[in-house]
Amino acid sequence: MPSPLICSPEWQALQGHQQTIAGLRIQSLFAIDKNRFKHFSLTLDGMLVDFSRHFLTNETLPLLLALAHARDLPTWIARMFNGEHINNTENRAALHIALRADKPVYCDGRDVTADVQRVLAQMEKFVTAIRSGIHTGFTGQRITDVVNIGIGGSYLGPQLACQALRPYADGSIRAHFVSNVDGENLSAVLGGLNAATTLIIVVSKTFTTQETMTNAQAARHWLVAQLGSESAVGQHFAAVTSNTEKVAQFGIAPQHVFEMWDWVGGRYSLWSAVGLPVALYAGMAAFQALHAGARVMDAHFRDTPLAHNLPVVLGLLDVWYINFFNTQARAVLPYAQALSRLPAYLQQLEMESLGKSIARDGTTVDYATGNIVWGEPGTDSQHSFFQLLHQGTLLIPADLIAGCRSVAGFREQHALLLSNYFAQGEALMNGKADANSPQAVVAGNRPSTSILVEELDAKHLGMLLALYEHKVFVQSVIWNINAFDQWGVALGKQVADRILPTLAGDAKTATFDASTNGLINFYKEHRP
Ligand code: F6P
Repeated sequence: MPSPLICSPEWQALQGHQQTIAGLRIQSLFAIDKNRFKHFSLTLDGMLVDFSRHFLTNETLPLLLALAHARDLPTWIARMFNGEHINNTENRAALHIALRADKPVYCDGRDVTADVQRVLAQMEKFVTAIRSGIHTGFTGQRITDVVNIGIGGSYLGPQLACQALRPYADGSIRAHFVSNVDGENLSAVLGGLNAATTLIIVVSKTFTTQETMTNAQAARHWLVAQLGSESAVGQHFAAVTSNTEKVAQFGIAPQHVFEMWDWVGGRYSLWSAVGLPVALYAGMAAFQALHAGARVMDAHFRDTPLAHNLPVVLGLLDVWYINFFNTQARAVLPYAQALSRLPAYLQQLEMESLGKSIARDGTTVDYATGNIVWGEPGTDSQHSFFQLLHQGTLLIPADLIAGCRSVAGFREQHALLLSNYFAQGEALMNGKADANSPQAVVAGNRPSTSILVEELDAKHLGMLLALYEHKVFVQSVIWNINAFDQWGVALGKQVADRILPTLAGDAKTATFDASTNGLINFYKEHRP
């Protein structure tokens, strides 16, 4: 028996509708409706989202919105903002919106924004002390370099934001990131640094993540060896975590420990003290502007009717393609070098949140859920994988993202960049028919969303990231899955923990399956 979702009249109506419009050319919709751009785009505080280049007729959105209502989306949005335990498998709220709220947000009867404000004030004090040179290193020298040791949500957001805000940073502090347990990562970063002027921030919600703990210990050894004293750790280490017990064992000074809470998911945590490297690198005002941007999107998501609600429209578009066109991937194409880590950030946000096949009620889903999200900045990606987007056999919707103004210098090049940005959306849709050979024909009819902001500053970055956070939530509601857990990731960690002891010594292993044994034994034979 198919699931209630598949059986619902709203789902069935969308299936029927898809069949009637399957052969449609997106281009032709512009001829039918001269105001299509106006009808299929939305603006919000310096952000324009154009979704006119999609397989959307006048009937499609109402049908998708009917599905959203049938799935009680407005109630779910309210439940999230009200701090209910919507992360059901971990029995927790998902309250990243509280991290940037300017009004009380309640969780289990408590206003959690008081805690948030306390940590933000602690951050501000620390950032001011470091950036002004009041807080120096062990030898009295100014801190010039910050190393973030963390992985997944404890790294991707801050790294993205630091890169994105580089044009706004004053250059007094450099930010570095170590995530991989591969020693090459740590070695490459520490190799270029002077311990006397380096602050190391260990970021881990759990403070148990193997990669982070290993790198943190190695960095501690490096620092103590360089500065010749254990006492140096106090001035050169900070931590961001919800596990205050473990952090005390590591020996980090309590005033340099920044708390986060179990109601913040790792991949939703940039807005918490996880953003400390961003505040150190670009300044507290930039971090606050990031919050302000996210707040604009939060209010929009909470208060705007579904039909004009940006995260709702984008979430429903993904449902439309994934479930009714059977697409398996979406390309994220920032026309901004500063957003070069956006695809990686969104990979975690979307694939860790939506890569689920068990519904909230414990049943196995009989419909597709999260898909592959990948991308690279334009224009580089035009010279690598765009060929497949234009002429391959897969249908891959694309998000094209750009800022109108350049603040990075070389301003005359910005028009060149944007001409490519505008061109790709058009080329994907229109293709090219009049060609001399069949191979030169570009079929077009490839859907894309264009997101254009006034400037890719901290505020608009905040809006953009919150837009994607809420889009993911919308999809999870339609699919009845929990976007806030990640049980699948734990398995690999557990297996690695079982394997590690067997790597000691030269004796051949026969403990695991034949493939794993074979690989381990080859490794043992060939390692020095
Ligand atoms: O990859 C799994 C994961 O749990 C992510 O969800 C999380 O962002 C990352 O590991 C790091 O976790 P932590 O912050 O606890 O070290």
